Amino acid sequence: MIKGCIFDLDGVIVDTAKYHYLAWKRLANELGFEFTEKDNERLKGVSRMKSLEILLEIGNKKFDEETKLKLAEKKNGWYVEYISKMDESEILDGVKAFLTELREKGIKISLGSVSKNAMTILKNINLLPYFDAVIDGTKVANAKPDPEVFLKAAEELKLKPEECCVFEDAVAGIEAARRANMKVIGVGSPEILGDADKVIDTFKGVTIDILNF
Ligand code: BG6
Ligand code: MG
Repeated sequence: MIKGCIFDLDGVIVDTAKYHYLAWKRLANELGFEFTEKDNERLKGVSRMKSLEILLEIGNKKFDEETKLKLAEKKNGWYVEYISKMDESEILDGVKAFLTELREKGIKISLGSVSKNAMTILKNINLLPYFDAVIDGTKVANAKPDPEVFLKAAEELKLKPEECCVFEDAVAGIEAARRANMKVIGVGSPEILGDADKVIDTFKGVTIDILNF
């Protein structure tokens, strides 16, 4: 029986994937190459530095470690600028109603994101009070597909992994949930998220019944 839900943030609760994309594209263009939405799928759920590695591989560029840190900082600066303007209106359809129902029915809720900006976003969109635990990029050493982020969330909720269900929009996140021995519901397109137990396109109309496996 599912007793806890673990939510990824970017692309599940809010569409920050579009801001990550804009910032990475801006960096790629500045470095002289194109970066498409299809390329961007590979960056979802992946850490900031690993994302940069993938981006540079796409552009066929090589830099020393110091320069790479500066490039990642530059991208993050733009990203932080985009998310600083976020408010409640950016919460994706149905998310708040679903979180409210989960709380009413006693299901524990955690965030499971590898973003170091997760807290800023949760505060900006006023969702922090819904969460019993927040595991983000400041608390984990390994990004998805490593299961660390989800295992830590279960631990903080005092639940066994098999009692948890993960909501994810990234291929790397689905793999991480599987490796954590948790149920996983993909949020997005079944073509991309085919390895999930179930796939929904949005939270609109989704109720607690979705947790019956
Ligand atoms: C994940 C996103 O949630 O966080 C990735 O899906 C992003 O695209 C990663 O790279 C790290 O985010 P941040 O905010 O720490 O750069
Ligand atoms: Mg995501």
